[in-house]
Amino acid sequence: MTQTKRNKFDWSEYSDQYTPPVILLGATGTIGQATLKCLISRGYFVKCFLRRRPCESTAHLYDHPKVEVCIGDLSDPDWLSQHLFPDDTKSAIISCIASRTGTKKDAWAVDYGVNKSFLDATRNTSIKQFVLLSAICVQKPVLEFQKAKLAFEADLRQSDMAWTIVRPTAFFKSLSGQVDRLKKGKPFLVFGTGQLTSCKPISDGDLARFIVDSLNHPDRQGAILPIGGPGPALTPLEQGRALFAALEKPQRFRQVPVAVLDLIIGGLRFAGLFSAKARNTLELACIGRYYATESMLVMDPKTGRYCSDMTNEFGTETLIEFYRDLATEQTTVDLGEHSVF
Ligand SMILES: NC(=O)c1ccc[n+]([C@@H]2O[C@H](COP(=O)([O-])OP(=O)(O)OC[C@H]3O[C@@H](n4cnc5c(N)ncnc54)[C@H](OP(=O)(O)O)[C@@H]3O)[C@@H](O)[C@H]2O)c1
Repeated sequence: MTQTKRNKFDWSEYSDQYTPPVILLGATGTIGQATLKCLISRGYFVKCFLRRRPCESTAHLYDHPKVEVCIGDLSDPDWLSQHLFPDDTKSAIISCIASRTGTKKDAWAVDYGVNKSFLDATRNTSIKQFVLLSAICVQKPVLEFQKAKLAFEADLRQSDMAWTIVRPTAFFKSLSGQVDRLKKGKPFLVFGTGQLTSCKPISDGDLARFIVDSLNHPDRQGAILPIGGPGPALTPLEQGRALFAALEKPQRFRQVPVAVLDLIIGGLRFAGLFSAKARNTLELACIGRYYATESMLVMDPKTGRYCSDMTNEFGTETLIEFYRDLATEQTTVDLGEHSVF
């Protein structure tokens, strides 16, 4: 999976401890917020490009002497060129931006379009490095958002930037959507036997550290890096068991045949012939089916099978500990608009 490219950039050429100013995209998202916290803790100056004001509950994050916020239309090239760092400031971009919905139009406008606007705007500037948060699932691209991400990955790889593409496995929030159901005494839903897929979940904080480490890691430049959290890989059945144990509730599972999703998709495909709304819902149903049947692990190119051993592990925080913290309300989870991702 790892590929190399010539033009590496070593910030230590500037000084041993040089921390480049960072332009952060998607700073109000789950991983964007974790990345912002990590950058601040390591002393970076961060310029966050946002489309709107952060919500009240997180506004304090951006109210920091080393954080600057620029609010505007991130796809407007004139606005961008006015607000990037001045030419003499050697800096880096970290992009954690992503479509909130995953629909075709939104994915191409954001996962491809906004990233591309920034890449284009950096031409003839001193922005040297681009670290992109992508997703492990683009290795088997079927969905529109995956195609949009891959299209931008290709543009970035062709550019003069020192690039790094981080392709993580599943986030904790995406595996926590059933907590409230279980608290209410409902069963844990699994597709098939609950063993159709598996993943090595990675926490927001561990992924943020991996992303930020990549800035001063010349070996990670020109590289596509699939990355999971600490193993072992967990199936949905194992995730359900861990959640019941954390909540100290007896285990109850309900198996849902994948054929149910196929029926829904068939219906939406027909409705989509007449309605744009149905086409959007169809894309979301296809996303659901994808995650019900595809593992978030590296695929062995020789066998075409997902392989836990080939999926590198990083970090220390485990999903099981996270479930315990959720159960005891020591932490909360914001599922966002696309919790199935
Ligand atoms: N969930 C998973 O398990 C998983 C696993 C692997 C990879 N990934 C990938 O990781 C990436 C980040 O995920 P996440 O959960 O951190 O995303 P998220 O919480 O949904 O955050 C998305 C960010 O993008 C911003 N954004 C969206 N549309 C925008 C626009 N038109 N203009 C400006 N900003 C815009 C959002 O800003 P607003 O706050 O203004 O909306 C937000 O800051 C995604 O690419 C996802 O595919 C996810």
